[in-house]
Amino acid sequence: MKQDRVFHRTRKERWPRVTHGEGLYLYDDEGQAYLDACAGVHVVSIGHGVAEIADAMQAQARKVTFTYSRFLTQPQIDLADRIASLTPGDLNRVFFVSGGSEATESAMKIARKYHLETGSPGKHKIVSRWQSWHGATVGALSMSGRSAWRKDYKPYLLDFPHIRPCYPYRCEYCRDAGECSLACAQDLERVIQQEGADSIAAFIAEPILGTSCAGLTPPPDYFRTIRDICDRHNVLMIVDEVVTGFGRTGTNFGVEHFGVVPDIMATGKGLSSGYTPIAATVVSERIYEAIYAKQTHYVHGHTYGGNPLSCAVALAVQDYIAEHDLVANCRRMGDLMLEKLQPLLDCPIVGAVRGKGLLTGVEFVADQKTREPFAVDRKVTAAVVDAVFDRNVLIMPGAPGLVDGAAGDHIAISPPFTIDEQQVDATVLAVTEAVEETAQSLGF
Ligand SMILES: Cc1ncc(COP(=O)(O)O)c(C=O)c1O
Repeated sequence: MKQDRVFHRTRKERWPRVTHGEGLYLYDDEGQAYLDACAGVHVVSIGHGVAEIADAMQAQARKVTFTYSRFLTQPQIDLADRIASLTPGDLNRVFFVSGGSEATESAMKIARKYHLETGSPGKHKIVSRWQSWHGATVGALSMSGRSAWRKDYKPYLLDFPHIRPCYPYRCEYCRDAGECSLACAQDLERVIQQEGADSIAAFIAEPILGTSCAGLTPPPDYFRTIRDICDRHNVLMIVDEVVTGFGRTGTNFGVEHFGVVPDIMATGKGLSSGYTPIAATVVSERIYEAIYAKQTHYVHGHTYGGNPLSCAVALAVQDYIAEHDLVANCRRMGDLMLEKLQPLLDCPIVGAVRGKGLLTGVEFVADQKTREPFAVDRKVTAAVVDAVFDRNVLIMPGAPGLVDGAAGDHIAISPPFTIDEQQVDATVLAVTEAVEETAQSLGF
């Protein structure tokens, strides 16, 4: 086979070549079908190859596909209205971009701009959490806490403080207490005070974790505590809903599980279900009005932000989700998936099974009692993912460094919301067999 000229993210001998997708399945040029139990990368919420979306794409392409920010277009207006109708509270102003990193980085800049315009020019740092992921661009990477992905680019990264994630299974504050003491949330206050509140612009967190620790859900009071600390120090609260947004956890947005309204929300992936690149940063009226109180121009933006083609496609996707009641199906199938994965806990290498909606994760340990992780060089995550792939099912490897920035093995299962009971069973079977096979090969 002729060698391709793609700059790959992994170098390997042979890549399967996908020719098309339909529903839950991707098909390659050798006739193999793969059950896509991770929706690409938590993206394809409505499944592959939906004809209505292709129709909407074609209809808009025949009208106009690009205008730039001198004009508004109807798809942009309609999509902003739709997003505002779905987001909680007064998150009503939608800044369109093309991907999740642009959305979180825009959130960072909007927070900075808000403070500049409201008399706090020193506020510029964003506090985030270790093990988090907010994207690959320099601002987004500075906020991210994934050590393995930060390492090479450290000289470029901004000096942003990180606090511990809310991770009771391994938390040094509460692991032995039986329940979360919220000390991890209180740590935000300590960091704000230590750094000086006059330098802190915002705090950012995923409401429920994606690839960093799929399905990890903090206790009910965690985000209320965070909201309260942010308010007391004039620190904006940003939630990163790039993975959790538009239904993935069984509610429109992950933060709804906690009854708080953030000031800024970054969205991406599920907005268009991957049918086109589009993402959005949604801000409260208060922030929007503050930015425009003394001026008529906001300096920040990207060429493709709000292009009418992507907006029309995303709108068609959101219509499809509503018409087929897919968020409710996501909730139902998510509960089923979590229930059916529970028996995995009997396998000696499984430490935890967690999830919310169709964002499910399994964590592996060398010792169930001590929760000691496997040595990195045993490559347990890759072994499980490969063994699942051998069964023609696709899942995501969890991001490296879950435990301490280096060790920690886990997987993410996050299929399209259109999954049915039989496909849940097929996924659970493939994962169970793969985990058992891996345990055996490790000598358990
Ligand atoms: C929570 C979260 N935020 C932001 C991003 C960055 O999004 P993108 O890769 O579209 O730039 C990701 C990507 O996986 C993510 O999981």
